[in-house]
Amino acid sequence: MKGVVLAGGLGSRLYPLTKITNKHLLPVFDKPMIYYPIQCLVNAGIDDILIVTGGNSAGHFLQLLRNGSDFGLKRLNYAYQEGEGGIADALKLAEHFAEDEDICVVLGDNIIERNIKKAVDDFEAQGGGAKILLKEVHDPQRFGVATIDGGMVRKIVEKPKEPETNLAVIGIYLYDNTVFDICRTLKPSSRGELEITDVNNEYLRQGKLTCEVLQGWWTDAGTFESLYRSATLIRENGANRMDL
Ligand code: G1P
Repeated sequence: MKGVVLAGGLGSRLYPLTKITNKHLLPVFDKPMIYYPIQCLVNAGIDDILIVTGGNSAGHFLQLLRNGSDFGLKRLNYAYQEGEGGIADALKLAEHFAEDEDICVVLGDNIIERNIKKAVDDFEAQGGGAKILLKEVHDPQRFGVATIDGGMVRKIVEKPKEPETNLAVIGIYLYDNTVFDICRTLKPSSRGELEITDVNNEYLRQGKLTCEVLQGWWTDAGTFESLYRSATLIRENGANRMDL
């Protein structure tokens, strides 16, 4: 299993904080934001990691992360996303890196309290397809929202006005290698992006999309409120904990 951290995009919901730097380099309590998704992968035993970024401050990722020694890694891999085509567009850049292996994709602004080792092990035992992680939230309209039936996903709607459940699809996804074939079939959504929800819905259509509800807190950090909340949660509880 290889890891992919998606850290591109304009971060326009955080203007003017992101006018001259990339969202994922902003501080979240005591670390740059991107440290958290990288640590999440490392804690799950994934040590071959690709960082996908873009824009003007892309070079800063190399300066900050170098070869990954802060995470006990021997090397990191980097890819550059041209333009702002969305999460599934950025994911396409991981095809060469993934070779024939499964991948764990983490959005660069997603931060969790605990670890995903069990979900990774469960996915490997499932033998292909995809697995998504879900979390109960009080504001599901902001996210992809899943309707489930036991461990299987029945429906995902991206940012529904009237959500059927309070289960947000968090930005940590486990995919087999067919994900790149699926990405090639996608069409841009109304916001002009290739949506990760469309990728997940294709696995769902094939009957190959399982899910688990995450234990411990989860947050994204892409809005002023969630960025503030992330720092508070980390300060009070710690992130990427291995002891829970
Ligand atoms: C993206 C996904 C959404 C998911 C969220 C998690 O939203 O499209 O399905 O729930 O990440 O952070 P975005 O941040 O691009 O609006």
